[in-house]
Amino acid sequence: MTERTLVLAKPDAVARGLTGEVIGRLEAMGLRLAALKMIWIDEELATRHYSAHVGKPFFNGLIQYITSLPVVAMVWEGPSAVSVVRKTMGATNPAEALPGTIRGDFGLDISNNLVHSSDSLESARKEIDLFFKEEEIFSWKRPHEIYITGE
Ligand code: CMP
Repeated sequence: MTERTLVLAKPDAVARGLTGEVIGRLEAMGLRLAALKMIWIDEELATRHYSAHVGKPFFNGLIQYITSLPVVAMVWEGPSAVSVVRKTMGATNPAEALPGTIRGDFGLDISNNLVHSSDSLESARKEIDLFFKEEEIFSWKRPHEIYITGE
């Protein structure tokens, strides 16, 4: 089933010049980029986006980190996009992420784990709504997409 998911290249990915790497990997996999913008997340948006983590010991540090520099927010679309993108990111803790994943190849520290992607279809819908207006998300097909998705 075609799904949409939210991806953030977080402040450390942007600072380290890894935004292109993140986009390139998802693009090369065959997923479609449906929306993209650079945004400097404020405390209110950060708290809404990470509402599931309110009260956790790392919450204040997480808010400070995600608001420290601009991020690049994206919507990616394709078959099973939510789980496929999560696999590409690797385990939340880069120290446990497998080589070949973004975090496994470029990260070392759980507080600087480079990327975010929605963990379920329901979160994806909520997170995409938080970051994008409907008119900022494009519905389109890659030419020759049959060679990517079989459809
Ligand atoms: P993300 O995929 O954006 O979702 C929640 C974020 O919280 C996660 O990536 C990490 O950036 C952060 N996080 C999760 N667990 C910890 C932890 N134990 N210590 C610090 N940060 C964490």
